[in-house]
Amino acid sequence: MTNKNSHLTICPFFQYEPDIGLAFEQREHDWTDIGYWEMIAREAERGRYDAIFFADFWGAARDPISIRYGKNFPMLDPLLLVSRLSAVAEHLGFIVTMSTSFYNPYMVARKMQTLNHITNGRIGWNIVTSINQKEADQLGMTLPGHSERYERAYEYVDLVKKLWASWEPDAVINDYENEWISDPEKVHRVDFEGEWFSSAGPLAVHHHPAGDPVLVQAGSSPEGMRFAGKHAEMIFSPAGPTPVKKERADKFRAAISDAGRDPYSVKLLFPIGGVVAESRSEAEERAAQIAESVPDEVGLNVLQGMSGFDLLKYSPDTKVSEILDEVSGVQGLFNMAAGKGFTILDTARFITNRVSDERFVGTAKDVADSLEAENEAVGGDGYMFRATYFAPHYVRDMTNLLVPELQKRGRMRKEYESTTLRKHIA
Ligand SMILES: Cc1cc2nc3c(=O)[nH]c(=O)nc-3n(C[C@H](O)[C@H](O)[C@H](O)COP(=O)(O)O)c2cc1C
Repeated sequence: MTNKNSHLTICPFFQYEPDIGLAFEQREHDWTDIGYWEMIAREAERGRYDAIFFADFWGAARDPISIRYGKNFPMLDPLLLVSRLSAVAEHLGFIVTMSTSFYNPYMVARKMQTLNHITNGRIGWNIVTSINQKEADQLGMTLPGHSERYERAYEYVDLVKKLWASWEPDAVINDYENEWISDPEKVHRVDFEGEWFSSAGPLAVHHHPAGDPVLVQAGSSPEGMRFAGKHAEMIFSPAGPTPVKKERADKFRAAISDAGRDPYSVKLLFPIGGVVAESRSEAEERAAQIAESVPDEVGLNVLQGMSGFDLLKYSPDTKVSEILDEVSGVQGLFNMAAGKGFTILDTARFITNRVSDERFVGTAKDVADSLEAENEAVGGDGYMFRATYFAPHYVRDMTNLLVPELQKRGRMRKEYESTTLRKHIA
């Protein structure tokens, strides 16, 4: 891969967890048991991954079909899970998602800095601006428009950084004999008055020696890329065919450079599903099983949500090209589907098939070859693996099969050389 250290971040894509075990074998735990999450963390640490990533959404899909099949709903709060999981892994990082549209910046600054202490420098914040009014409905608020969301996010992150900086690194003394816990000269108010946010400061949580939480970003609109260019230390770029990934990678690197930073100082990861098994036929069989595991009514329901209009008034056999001018939601997806001659049902199956890309189905050698070739062509820094079947087993299988192959090729560390997330990704 491009950089000598490949950054393999394993992602049990949080929002899909309830339905992820529908198709397969016996499970030791349901996703509602803490044992399920502990198993993922232990296996990820055994695989020497940089971090596990928790996506988070607040129940935009809460209709009867989503509830029945556990599609994106319900989900546990990742912050609380991480405070427990950090105790079962010593080196593994944890990246949690929090929205600049839904949380107050002081609260995020405090929660993240607290998690920084609890995890001893292993925490990252996936900064999202959110996309769905149905999430905002949960809080009784109106989601601002796209560009205002990003304008707010700039102000928001400036304030969070100021709050984190309100404690100088050596402000805490803990000199009990002389009754000096912290030095008031080294703890500062922020008196921030922005257009949308304000805070007096200082933060109620002090600095951590590992530095502030690692900033991660996943928006890929021009505004999202500019924002990542300024703030991100790690970027999750959307999935797609190799040329699309390459184009995005170039744009992200340019945005980082435009912000006056070294474009290769930021780690660029791409999400990937995939299935790795002992033999190619076993992997292909499992991939086929995964493709069939999501009932069509679930895929159609998800697609309806992405279309922005009443898509299901049409028969599932309708060509997407015939209804394209009614789409007001995720236009890129529908344009792609129309271009491929997909029907509505084909598109629904496409979006719910977690594997989708056959290049990443096979033996460890097959998949490592594809990862190396693609990452080279794209100029990325690695992948964020999204579980395609029961997540604890998926992570275990990756750790048992793919990781040793990547280690053999010098693409993954054999042992952790550091204890903090920022150093893991350096
Ligand atoms: C890999 C990946 C993971 C994401 N995870 C989340 C998430 O957990 N929660 C969320 O609200 N948005 C998530 N997003 C959405 C983005 O953060 C962003 O809000 C969205 O792409 C819209 O921004 P944009 O218009 O700049 O692309 C994710 C996007 C990608 C590519």
